[in-house]
Amino acid sequence: MAAPVARGKVRDIFDAGEGRLLLVATDRISAFDVVLPTPIPDKGRVLTACSLHWFDRVADVIPNHVVTADIGGFPAPFDADPDLAGRAMLVAAARVIPMECVVRGYLAGSGWVQYREGAAVCGVPLPPGLMESARLPEPIFTPTTKATAGHDLPLSPDEARDLVGVGLYERLREVAIDVYEQIAADALASGVILADTKFEFGFELATGELTLIDEVGTPDSSRFWPADGYAPGRPQPSFDKQFVRDHLDATGWDREPPPPALPDDVVAATAARYREAYERVSGEPFEAYLRRSGAA
Ligand SMILES: Nc1ncnc2c1ncn2[C@@H]1O[C@H](COP(=O)(O)OP(=O)(O)OP(=O)(O)O)[C@@H](O)[C@H]1O
Ligand SMILES: [Mg+2]
Repeated sequence: MAAPVARGKVRDIFDAGEGRLLLVATDRISAFDVVLPTPIPDKGRVLTACSLHWFDRVADVIPNHVVTADIGGFPAPFDADPDLAGRAMLVAAARVIPMECVVRGYLAGSGWVQYREGAAVCGVPLPPGLMESARLPEPIFTPTTKATAGHDLPLSPDEARDLVGVGLYERLREVAIDVYEQIAADALASGVILADTKFEFGFELATGELTLIDEVGTPDSSRFWPADGYAPGRPQPSFDKQFVRDHLDATGWDREPPPPALPDDVVAATAARYREAYERVSGEPFEAYLRRSGAA
């Protein structure tokens, strides 16, 4: 297979010709924006399974970049690589909007840290007296920069408007909140709270149309909590990488490269959590996804 045209922290991106890209979700895992040396088995397939599920569910709200995830529909030589089954997506190439469109419905993570410092998150004021993990009065749009290296930085609404333009900012805010609400409602019906999530948008090169790209509603891009047992006033147990982050913090790692390897028990537990995240939100056994996509 040809060399990737780009390599993100998690995805390898190949030129598939005719204005198309092949996005391959590897089993790499990053934490605190650093790629760890230890892969999580089938994590990439979970990410692709989740994204396909949610792209489909929100297709009425916004067009997306997916052409096909069926390996038989990939151009050569990608159609002949069985490892791509279930983990790769043929997508329409887009001009990527250089802003990570974060939507928060609950107060967690860096949002909670910012809130405690001044009752606002990324310059969006919030009522006083909210507890950690509290549900917000309404979802808020808290975009960040899309750093090519290192950490993404929070943007105030003014900074975000300067970055992408006022009109596009408003459009992205509306669409991102709509997509968040759709996914959150769907997830909640399956007993999962979508605390916050990140979207990327672009303009499809072939059509110029505003398009939802990258990954959607995956445990990497989202903070999912089991709804049963949800109680504000403390951090929530989650289906996402929190488990890995907690382990890393317990090792005393300073969050700067090089990161430590993960022990086998953390790898196994993390792999299980990723699968469970897919099963909870989709209602389908992960094994069924693997068979359907030709990966098993
Ligand atoms: N349809 C698309 N057209 C062009 N680029 C895309 C498209 N969909 C996703 N991308 C880009 O592909 C990359 C996905 O790789 P990955 O998620 O591993 O990167 P990352 O580690 O998040 O780093 P970064 O997003 O900063 O490059 C992202 O840069 C994303 O913007
Ligand atoms: Mg990414």
